[in-house]
Amino acid sequence: MYQSRQAFFNQTDGSEQLRLSEILGAFSYALDLTEGQPAGHSIRACWIGTQIAMALGLKGAALRDVYYAVLLKDLGCSSNAARVSEMFVGDDRKLKHDFKLIGPRPEDFGAFLGSAVGVGADPEIRDQALGNLAENVGEIMTDIMATRCSRGADIARRLRLSEDVAQAIAHLDEHWDGGGLPLGLSGADIHLGGRIALLAQVADVFYSARGKDAALDEIRNRAGSWLDPQLCALFEKLSETSGFWEELALDDLPEQLWALEPAEEYINVDEDYLDDICFAFGYVIDAKSPDTAGHSARVGMIADQIGEKLGMGAESRRVLRRAAILHDVGKLGVSSAILEKPGKLDSQEWETMRAHAALTTNILGQIGVMSGMAMIAGSHHERLDGKGYPLGLDERSIAMESRIITVADIYDALTADRPYRAAMSSEKAMDILQEEVGSAVDEQCFKALQTVIEQGLLE
Ligand SMILES: [Fe+2]
Ligand SMILES: [Fe+2]
Repeated sequence: MYQSRQAFFNQTDGSEQLRLSEILGAFSYALDLTEGQPAGHSIRACWIGTQIAMALGLKGAALRDVYYAVLLKDLGCSSNAARVSEMFVGDDRKLKHDFKLIGPRPEDFGAFLGSAVGVGADPEIRDQALGNLAENVGEIMTDIMATRCSRGADIARRLRLSEDVAQAIAHLDEHWDGGGLPLGLSGADIHLGGRIALLAQVADVFYSARGKDAALDEIRNRAGSWLDPQLCALFEKLSETSGFWEELALDDLPEQLWALEPAEEYINVDEDYLDDICFAFGYVIDAKSPDTAGHSARVGMIADQIGEKLGMGAESRRVLRRAAILHDVGKLGVSSAILEKPGKLDSQEWETMRAHAALTTNILGQIGVMSGMAMIAGSHHERLDGKGYPLGLDERSIAMESRIITVADIYDALTADRPYRAAMSSEKAMDILQEEVGSAVDEQCFKALQTVIEQGLLE
């Protein structure tokens, strides 16, 4: 029998403490977006995986670790997005979505390449990409999976999760028969959490796209090849229990899921932990592009310094820094084909690129504890003269915190290395910013940044 909320509901003291499961669960929607999955994929996969873990008899820390491993299995997904887009010539989010729906046989992969690579691209570029894939596909796929797995495990550690969670995430793409990547592990050498996560992923990908019968067919098809056959049998049994599929489709599945976190291992989040969570997601954001390493954290640090010079108190600066770190979280929903396009963007591409700001507001708005800073973070491309985006706000309505983030963002972008130009000197960047004072950039913020630089606080 699958477990429902009533059996595991653990909120007994009525306190208003922040629960790790709710915060990370809310962040998991950003991972779905990056991976091209329908909203709630991570949450549904986690619910399926947790049901399997409980049916196996896991309890306490072991159950908690599977719970977080499945919920956050895609933590590393942004890190291979640019490479997927480059190697397969296309929209990484669509490519990743379609890739998960292909069958397990080599000919399925071949057919996928034929239909998905270079769609809409110049035929010459498409042929080049197919030729490269034909020659180097093993190496390319190993590299793509290795990046995702090691980065995902690393971010799990930054989120203070256990080594078991990190290892389970690192083993997500290993297959029971040894045919997976990047290590080619087989059988019980694959971390149990990784085996459960892959099963739950396949089940929800097919359930969401084609319904429960398709999900069951795929699990049966892959039992013993991709998936641990014992776990598949267990899943099949669970799925026959009345209410299983109905519960998976419930609107309040997230609330049901928070309640499945094992009571004795219940993790609460204090303010320092919340800072670490923001920093960890800053890494997820920066990994989306090969050229933005450290950008989110640096914008957070610069904004904090400007805030201090403007006389903001410690608590307000803490919120400001979190908003600054997460200002580009909406980029996770933008294709790397656009983010990394070397030439000029056409008007439609530009519109998609600009959508990242509104997406930031949207994503943070859905994370209870972050919702108060959603507008602040999502307004970092607004301008005082009203010519910015996404809303075209002007000096009457742009919050001071947003103005601070705007200055910090532009300054960091100018002083960081880019493939098409070397990092600008601080003086040059400040000259450029000065020209924008009054139109795009707030004068007070600019002067505060000047003081921060003069005092050597960014070195
Ligand atoms: Fe931005
Ligand atoms: Fe930025």
